[in-house]
Amino acid sequence: MTKQINTDVLILGAGAAGLSLALRLAENARVSILAKGAFSEGSSLYAQGGVAAVANKDKDSFESHIEDTILAGAGLCREKTVKQVVRHGPEAIAWLIEKGVLFTTDASASENESDHSFHLTREGGHSHRRVYHAADATGRAIENTLEKQVRAHKNITIFEDHIAVDLITESKLDTKLNISADNNACLGAYVLNRATGKIKVFAARVVVLATGGAAKVYLYTSNPDTSTGDGIAMAWRAGCRVGNMEFVQFHPTCLYHSKAKSFLITEAVRGEGGKLKLTDGNSFMADHDDRGELAPRDIVARAIDYEMKRRGDDHVNLDISHMPDDFIKNHFPTVYEKCKSFNIDITSDPIPVVPAAHYTCGGICTDLSARTDLPGLYAIGECAFTGLHGANRLASNSLLECLVFAKLAADDINLALKQSKNYQYKNLPAWDESRVTDADEQVVVSHNWDELRRFMWDYVGIVRTTKRLQRAQHRIDLLKDEIREYYTNFKITNDLVELRNLVDVADLIIRSALVRKESRGLHFTRDYPELDESSAPKDTILKPLTNQPNKTGIAALI
Ligand code: FAD
Ligand code: SIN
Repeated sequence: MTKQINTDVLILGAGAAGLSLALRLAENARVSILAKGAFSEGSSLYAQGGVAAVANKDKDSFESHIEDTILAGAGLCREKTVKQVVRHGPEAIAWLIEKGVLFTTDASASENESDHSFHLTREGGHSHRRVYHAADATGRAIENTLEKQVRAHKNITIFEDHIAVDLITESKLDTKLNISADNNACLGAYVLNRATGKIKVFAARVVVLATGGAAKVYLYTSNPDTSTGDGIAMAWRAGCRVGNMEFVQFHPTCLYHSKAKSFLITEAVRGEGGKLKLTDGNSFMADHDDRGELAPRDIVARAIDYEMKRRGDDHVNLDISHMPDDFIKNHFPTVYEKCKSFNIDITSDPIPVVPAAHYTCGGICTDLSARTDLPGLYAIGECAFTGLHGANRLASNSLLECLVFAKLAADDINLALKQSKNYQYKNLPAWDESRVTDADEQVVVSHNWDELRRFMWDYVGIVRTTKRLQRAQHRIDLLKDEIREYYTNFKITNDLVELRNLVDVADLIIRSALVRKESRGLHFTRDYPELDESSAPKDTILKPLTNQPNKTGIAALI
């Protein structure tokens, strides 16, 4: 039996959220940080456009960034959260610069040696240029810089290839005691070492979910394989509320090529003048929105979906070839090289693009310090629902949210650790494998995985109907039963853990979508195509029925 690992803070996830939190805590605490695959693999690594923050108060203002965020959020942003995140933006950027992130300067973008201010790009829904970027590989610059420092820090222990399976809570340990919500607490997590197949037990004074989004629940996505909603599913199973799961953002422009897996064409291409065109060469965005190519993402993605279906086309084109070759190569080196590898020269050819699932706006409900419903458990980054994004996230506000909430969580956790100096780690039970055997057929898992992602795309995608959602719900119910049986009888594997989480998260998305009887932001249903203006806009908050673990909880609008 492996020994229990005790740590002050256990951070599940090593993206922008997890890494920045680890660095902010490590001076005062022993931190263990897990990544389920290679350490830097995750959405953060692939972020292209940048980080939105107000740079120059003469040309831009907090009020304007707040207003743009709220406008994109279609009535559901929480103003307090928006203000908090926007106002912390300059500090987050200064922190990254101090850590060594090299954002593109005007000099590096224009080769004008005398100009050393930062080059700010523009993206849909922003009324000013306010997006700090490192060419078109901003996430890589952030992730690589922070990773180096995390690896070098003596108080941080790294566990790569370790996937958390479930959280350990007081109430799960002692069902007979009937622990009330007030006395319940998170005590640690069971973690599968993917290399050895063994389960480790981590005990922690504080556990932080920084596990990213859930876009892999869809067949077509801009996200890497890590985005399987693990944190959201684990928190839900541990009794936490989740919010606004119906709002899945589809990025309008992912590369359409049979051999390109999940490659995004950054919105900054449109920000710098790229035009969307039908395959016959005609522009179409002006017919859908006065803001044209720079309308918020939900509008652009729906316009593309509409035009593709109307014409029976399998893609549209994004054309930036009218801009000078050097400008394109300097601003978009990653996009240029990737497209070139598929024989598309973006300085002369249009780029074939389609929308794909990109961002999970909903997630685990948290307060303004990233605390969840479960004492001792925090959630930050894409897995959290803070109220910043409302019904539609504004471009480049996600990395900002990761960084700001990492700081706010760190402040709160540092205080909590100080106040619980005499904390006694419990002896947590080892994972019980006495009643399971090796699975005889992995094909069941891979078949269910494919089926789930396809019907989510077909029935719960950009345009929804009640009938399609009900069909998807029916299939989810069958899958849940099958997976429960599989999970109870066979040894767990990485694929089974992820599939179980994907099914739980898909269930939450469908149930939330069925609750919302209107179209708002990213949720568009033909059965209720208008906003419901009969009452104030409401979040969709789902609460698990903890006394009936096999049932999905009550849907409540608050
Ligand atoms: P991630 O970066 O996804 O990291 C998740 C981490 O959790 C990984 O380390 C993973 O291994 C780990 N993990 C997951 N499950 C488990 C588990 N069970 N056990 C242990 N570890 C686990 N946003 C912007 O603001 N600006 C942009 O320019 C931008 N561009 C984007 C481009 C692309 C292609 C994509 C996909 C997203 C983009 N976004 C952008 C969104 C943004 O990148 C993400 O929302 C953000 O990076 C999420 O960071 P995170 O730290 O929450 O999660
Ligand atoms: C992009 O570069 O288009 C992605 C930006 C984002 O998702 O915020």
